[in-house]
Amino acid sequence: MKISLEISVWLLTTLLATGICLQCERCESATRSCSGPLQTCKGPQSACLTLTVETRVGKMRKVATYKGCTKLEYCPLGPFTITTAPEERIRSNSECCCQDHCNKGALRLPLLSEPNQRWCPPRNLRGSTCTIGDKVFCHGREVYCIYLSGYAAAGSKNETFVRQGCGTQHICTDKLGIFGIPGLFLETLTKADCNQANEIDYSDFRDLSWN
Ligand SMILES: *[C@@H]1O[C@H](CO)[C@@H](O)[C@H](O)[C@H]1NC(C)=O
Repeated sequence: MKISLEISVWLLTTLLATGICLQCERCESATRSCSGPLQTCKGPQSACLTLTVETRVGKMRKVATYKGCTKLEYCPLGPFTITTAPEERIRSNSECCCQDHCNKGALRLPLLSEPNQRWCPPRNLRGSTCTIGDKVFCHGREVYCIYLSGYAAAGSKNETFVRQGCGTQHICTDKLGIFGIPGLFLETLTKADCNQANEIDYSDFRDLSWN
């Protein structure tokens, strides 16, 4: 009886210790990786997250990497690519892990693949019904038409976003909620729609060439 009590007390303290004292690297950078000091996770935070996002608009390229403690339910679903306009592509990777200092190093971004014979409707320009072109052509594994909207907060900014176009499986989520790292980068997804992308109908092109 006494032994088992000691064992359960020991087990309890060990569990509490590992649950409370998870340590994760915390940093942010405008590059594909970052490293920083270890942070002791608090309360319900039980995962270390690494998140890298690259946005390309024409020749402009913007990258951001964030690392830190987070709640398990704030973990994004993993790698994805999105095409939102002919010259606008986003790719991202993320990973959550639950051991001390497991979020070191860099994540590999998914490849920017070639067009895949599918298309989605483009998004409307802000506050108007005009669109950029009439089709967004999808790439690689982007076989879904997506519509995502919500808020993205980083630093002192908190802005609304709408992403519409082609996307891969992992971005095609019906899980609304919050993703990211408190205090560094948090995305609140308030609306997510997802449908199979359209196949290009080559008879359209044949008709054109005969006219
Ligand atoms: C950003 O703004 C929205 C809307 O006001 C709010 O719901 C959300 O909590 C804010 N996010 C952060 C991290 O402050």
